[in-house]
Amino acid sequence: MKIIRTIKALRSILIAQRKKAGSIGFVPTMGYFHQGHTALMKASAKENHVTVVSLFVNPIQFGPKEDLSRYPRDLKRDTRLARESGVDILFIPSVKEMYPEPLLTFVEVGKIADILCGASRPGHFRGVATVVAKLLNIVQPDIMYLGQKDAQQVEVIKRMVQDLNIPAQIKVCRTEREQDGLAMSSRNSYLSPSERAVAPRLYQALCQARRMIADGERNTSKIISQIKKLISDGTNVSIEYVSCVGLDRFVPVRRIKGKVLVAVAVRIGTTRLIDNIVVKA
Ligand code: PAF
Repeated sequence: MKIIRTIKALRSILIAQRKKAGSIGFVPTMGYFHQGHTALMKASAKENHVTVVSLFVNPIQFGPKEDLSRYPRDLKRDTRLARESGVDILFIPSVKEMYPEPLLTFVEVGKIADILCGASRPGHFRGVATVVAKLLNIVQPDIMYLGQKDAQQVEVIKRMVQDLNIPAQIKVCRTEREQDGLAMSSRNSYLSPSERAVAPRLYQALCQARRMIADGERNTSKIISQIKKLISDGTNVSIEYVSCVGLDRFVPVRRIKGKVLVAVAVRIGTTRLIDNIVVKA
């Protein structure tokens, strides 16, 4: 596995690679790898001739009061996990390499970036869309792999790729979970033991919602109330949102019909966690 730190070096390797033909798979990440990341890397390594992983903690997607400065990092472990997952090129640019001067050009994706996580993290998806557009221009992959845990991010990126005619296919891989159901996330490392103990409630509540829907409940306010009750019951978890949005247009729905994303965001202590499931009726 090659570790590359400059855009110029990465481009020249990939130009040579493209001449040899074969597909390029790409996994964008911010590092501190867990099984969710390595599953994406393994899927790419299986389906492509070359797998490129970017590891870049993107400052422009963090708000001024967010966790940029304490975002977890472990380059040695990340390098080992990427190598073991079949990655060919680990691209680790510096902030100066990605943003040699303050940007004047940003990618704004509109309505779907303003709701849910976008409402509580203003500018977040603008930062995500902008860096992913830059990375797609740099790597020019055939297929990009993203995780379903960040469902809204997936929709924002899909829409950007469609609107800007970026010639990359997007594959979405399922959310990887701990044994107790907690969705894997680099931010789980922030949780204290007592916070970690309540964190599985997110997924338990989503599973309860799935059961309610299977039993015939279609009213999303009833489903949302039940999720809120289960998550916050007797704990100091603060709920940011619980929402049911249609997968077609990503807007809140009053009744479950077709494919619906049931999504939650909470803060446990100072740690922000998100999770979601897709239900169908
Ligand atoms: O999901 C992430 O880790 C980031 O938002 C991404 C897609 C790598 C962009 O910085």
